[in-house]
Amino acid sequence: MTAEIPVVVLDPTGADHHGEAARMRELGPVVRIVLPGDVPAWAVTRHDLVADLVKNPLVSKDWRRWNEIRQGRIPEGWPLIGMVAVTNMVTADGAEHHRLRRLVTQTLTPARVQALAPRVTELVAELLDRLPEHADEHGVVDVRTHFAVEVPMQVICELTGVPAERRARLRELVDSIFRTTTPPEEVVQVQTDIFRLLGDLIALRTAEPGDDLTSALIAARAADPEALSDEELAGTLWLMLAAGHETTLNLITNAIRALLTHPVQLAFVEHGEASWEDVVEETLRWDAPIGNFMARYPLEDLTVEGVTIPAGDAVLAPYSGVGRDEAQHGADAAVFDLTRTRARSLAFGGGPHLCLGAPLARMETRIALEALFARHPGLALAVPAQKLTPVESFFSNGPQTLPVVL
Ligand code: HEM
Repeated sequence: MTAEIPVVVLDPTGADHHGEAARMRELGPVVRIVLPGDVPAWAVTRHDLVADLVKNPLVSKDWRRWNEIRQGRIPEGWPLIGMVAVTNMVTADGAEHHRLRRLVTQTLTPARVQALAPRVTELVAELLDRLPEHADEHGVVDVRTHFAVEVPMQVICELTGVPAERRARLRELVDSIFRTTTPPEEVVQVQTDIFRLLGDLIALRTAEPGDDLTSALIAARAADPEALSDEELAGTLWLMLAAGHETTLNLITNAIRALLTHPVQLAFVEHGEASWEDVVEETLRWDAPIGNFMARYPLEDLTVEGVTIPAGDAVLAPYSGVGRDEAQHGADAAVFDLTRTRARSLAFGGGPHLCLGAPLARMETRIALEALFARHPGLALAVPAQKLTPVESFFSNGPQTLPVVL
């Protein structure tokens, strides 16, 4: 029986992530979702339910189990296809997931992430040196485009061995994949271009191996063809490139916006009453970069709070939304407060698919914020925060631009 379950048409323009999540929570613990193209799905709306969902072994991440795909109801050019039909660890279960994840964690070790800190500091300093050159005649700079995008983009491209001349197109492709309003013609073109970009990258690093993740994965495949297939190699690289920067750029952007709109909180950091780690963690809770993430598919009918979700239906995890769940974070969950005692957030997911880039993302963001505010103590928004337009996406949560005066 699903007749009385509330139905929410997710807004593909992402105009109000937090308002939409709050409305969903008010409607009940489980809601039916309508995705673009009238495609049906489900979402659980509370922190505790999302936490249970992501570690439930009877819920698969394999899109090939999705009823809508199996029954051929997903049209060509569907705007979300690039976030769904991928072959890598995010869409793998059990032993396959372990195999694919281990290939990356073997290279991206905690020691390697730690060793990247001086390089991140150097990159951030270079970007800050050049930031004033991007100011318009009124001294306004888009700190998202010229700083928040560039930090994680350069780091992940160095880590994966993507040559500098490919980065602009890579950025466009990732931007398009995360948008939920992309028209069908663009979706098809983007899929072709991603395939080409990854093919070129693999060919380059096969011919000229380096000390990077792409070369390490190619070597693993050469040593043991069973280690990963060609499709998994390309899928894994795509995951690292996309997840490795789209998310972190929104964390940096959202943290800057939060501090500039909460001067009392910024003063806590300046006076040592809160740390840059607090800024990172509170932004992850209060304004997480990933909104509604696709998707999980129950292997058998799943009953949540008395509602039965049929096997093979898609269930979304509203990661940014549950960061303001009062049951988890208290009655003041909607308040940005660096000094709060923080409960666990789900910004990086949980269970076996817990984000493996979290230590890198935290480190990049802390270094970027600390250096930016040290260099520009008078930093201010150039437009009222309410005028900022969100990215057209219910996956990505952040503004399209962040104009500031330095
Ligand atoms: C603030 C930045 C970031 C946020 C908020 C974030 C968020 C997430 C979330 C929510 C998931 C779980 C998705 C699911 O439910 O399946 C995830 C998985 C993942 N993330 Fe991140 N991420 C961030 C940065 C990064 C970075 C920098 C990298 C790469 C260097 C990365 C690589 C991955 C990978 C490979 C997975 C898949 C893990 C698996 O399926 O086992 N992420 N991330």
